[in-house]
Amino acid sequence: MTTRWLGYRPIAKVFSNRFLLPQISRRIAPICQAWPCRNLASLNTPAADDSVEILGQRFPRDKNTNVTTTITAKTARLLHRQPNHPINILKRRIEAHFENYKVVDSMNPAVTTQQNFDSLLFTADHPGRAPTDTYYINSNTVLRTHTSAHQSEVLKTREAEGYLLTADVYRRDEIDVSHYPVFHQMEGLRTFDRKNLEAEAAVNVAGTSIKGAVLSETNPVQLAHTTREAELVDQHLRHSLEGMVRDLFREEKDLEIRWIEAYFPFTSPSWEMEVLYRGSWLELLGCGVIQQKIMDDANNADRVGWAFGLGLERIAMVMFDIPDIRLFWSSDERFLSQFSSGQIVKFQPFSKYPACYKDVSFWCNEGFHDNDFAEVVRDVAGDMAEDVKLIDKFEHPKTKRVSRCFRINYRSMDRTCTNEEVDKIQDEVRRVAATTLGVELR
Ligand code: PHE
Repeated sequence: MTTRWLGYRPIAKVFSNRFLLPQISRRIAPICQAWPCRNLASLNTPAADDSVEILGQRFPRDKNTNVTTTITAKTARLLHRQPNHPINILKRRIEAHFENYKVVDSMNPAVTTQQNFDSLLFTADHPGRAPTDTYYINSNTVLRTHTSAHQSEVLKTREAEGYLLTADVYRRDEIDVSHYPVFHQMEGLRTFDRKNLEAEAAVNVAGTSIKGAVLSETNPVQLAHTTREAELVDQHLRHSLEGMVRDLFREEKDLEIRWIEAYFPFTSPSWEMEVLYRGSWLELLGCGVIQQKIMDDANNADRVGWAFGLGLERIAMVMFDIPDIRLFWSSDERFLSQFSSGQIVKFQPFSKYPACYKDVSFWCNEGFHDNDFAEVVRDVAGDMAEDVKLIDKFEHPKTKRVSRCFRINYRSMDRTCTNEEVDKIQDEVRRVAATTLGVELR
């Protein structure tokens, strides 16, 4: 089982003990009373505003609110529906492959914790719920962290046998060329009549990378399924995905594919698919046989099914040769004009502007999380921040306080910045970090 990666960015893995520190988010929560630090300056949020607006809908803030306007502003962009945008071109390619699947692409990004976690059988203490990783609009509402949040409601409609649901998803994360707090996922769902499974789901797996029985101690068949049922659904799933990926990467003859056992609370057995692309293994998607309880709860007790979730940026970056994830958000014509509907072309980089590195060091309180600092940088510097690296960590031998030093690489996507301009941003990053995170600058 792999640990954690970055392609479709699985949220179902256990990271660290971050979840034990739920107060972290409150430090940048504008109206939070719980954090006893000096000035609770909010990040980009008018102090008097006691609600968060998402696509015209207002949600009351509470002590768990950690979303900022820099992030909520992205909900209006809908890159996956913008014609001639690489994300839309890729989306349509996959939709064309899965011909008879119903296309769903306008679900609201504000979902309940019930939708995002409980309906998918995440336990109450699952690390995926941690406010260091998830944007909370308030205690009961989050910006969806994955498209699986809509599985139940889509299944409940019983409108089709197959669905392709594309949406923008939101995660608090580190900053570098392949991580952005918003990205796009496509969820595939397919269900079968349990009584007619043999006829509906049987596929010929000869010539694919699907080997061996699905039964394994670490990747088990659900108690609710017979081994044959699980095998049929699992093979239909992986057969379908191999077909889709071979179609997408049709230029790469003999594309090598491998299946890695995975774990998600909402599927079993579960897999991640990797492809060998230009010498390295790329993790493209997570998938598995849907937990029967989810099917039952969604008024589908007579059916069995599979689901997958893939990260569109990850695939688009390799297919279009796009080197930096921030480019997808660019409104620069030199980027946008290179793409047109239905065509997969290689991006021709326009000049890369000079990088400007600035370091910041501070003493941290217990419970400090690197993602909290990343959030400050995102909020102050926006897309000027290309990456943020922790370059030094030091524990004071006597006081045991920990000092961290981060190196921020500032680089605009469309122009050269003056040192003076970057200094101003850096000063603001320092100021906001000190006032909202309660760290002591060095
Ligand atoms: N939602 C999962 C993630 O984002 C991916 C997934 C979707 C896995 C559907 C299994 C089934 O990590």
